[in-house]
Amino acid sequence: MENINWSTLPFGYFKTDYNVRCYYRNGKWGLIETSSSEYINMHMAATCLHYGQEAFEGMKAYRGKDGKIRLFRWEENAKRMGRSADGILMAKVPQELFYEMVVKAVKLNEKYIPPYGHGAALYIRPLLIGTGPQIGVKPAEEYMFMVFVGPVGPYFKEGFNPVTLQIVRDFDRAAPQGTGHIKVGGNYAGSLFAANRAKEEGFPAVLFLEAKEKKYIDEAGPANFFAIKNNSYITPKSDSILPSITNMSLMQLAEDMGMNVERRKVAVEELDGFEEAGACGTAAIISPIGKLVDRETGKEYVFSKDGKAGTKSTKLYNKLQAIQYGDEPDTHNWVTILD
Ligand code: PLP
Ligand code: COI
Repeated sequence: MENINWSTLPFGYFKTDYNVRCYYRNGKWGLIETSSSEYINMHMAATCLHYGQEAFEGMKAYRGKDGKIRLFRWEENAKRMGRSADGILMAKVPQELFYEMVVKAVKLNEKYIPPYGHGAALYIRPLLIGTGPQIGVKPAEEYMFMVFVGPVGPYFKEGFNPVTLQIVRDFDRAAPQGTGHIKVGGNYAGSLFAANRAKEEGFPAVLFLEAKEKKYIDEAGPANFFAIKNNSYITPKSDSILPSITNMSLMQLAEDMGMNVERRKVAVEELDGFEEAGACGTAAIISPIGKLVDRETGKEYVFSKDGKAGTKSTKLYNKLQAIQYGDEPDTHNWVTILD
């Protein structure tokens, strides 16, 4: 195997040796197949290509100091993929099949799991697509579920250093009663233009507002938003954001640390009073937000004056990572150790 510099891995595609696949035909899931091909051969009228019947998940396998491989709250990812499947009428992947395929993909590519201590992990990408042909707008009758993996560093190249994000008002990621709450490809297609423009303007990502009134914060392109004020962990409640498993865990950890947790609508005007802010997700882990710039009004909200993450965000980040890598006891039973 080539020499991998684990400490400087970007968050990106990385070719590994195997992926695993399973097909849903005639109303049932078949046997798990192992493939060493990076390609999928499919019907040109497959519904994933035309009508967006596609859902994915994002998880990580962590290598501990003890050499053991850990998964973090995989059941939540399995359940969320189930909700995504229901939301766009795809065949549901049974939880046991989801787990078996994730474990198989991780173990087959074990040599790509970053060793402990480099801030890297093996990213796991479960993917569910409609493969059956339709030309009328209808759900497919055949589906493929696959899992591939690859070693990654943090989503934002800044790592745990504060980023500046751009608030956009002329684009929405998801409609109020649309598909923002499930992890389907269309949401990401809808976010590309604004995200790309933000990059050209010098921002690594955007913060979307709730589409109907543009008064409340929704989430960042690939991560949820949270803020800290007066010993409270505050995070938006909205029907159009993805329920982040990282955020759910941080809410619990904040409570464990004696903080108040407020999951509620968060008005843009409140940004002025926040002491810390961050973007959280499997890929982003916690990315502290040092500053937000409203693209339309030019108004700036500053959360970090010294270029460092705030104390509460740092505590939460350290605790979450300590559990994920097995450095601290897993008191909530979030971790599955693979044997
Ligand atoms: N929000 C969006 C839009 C995402 O794509 C993700 C990534 O999965 C998240 C939030 C974070 O969710 P999680 O913490 O479950 O990875
Ligand atoms: C994740 O955090 O795992 C994600 O899936 C975000 C992503 C769109 C890269």
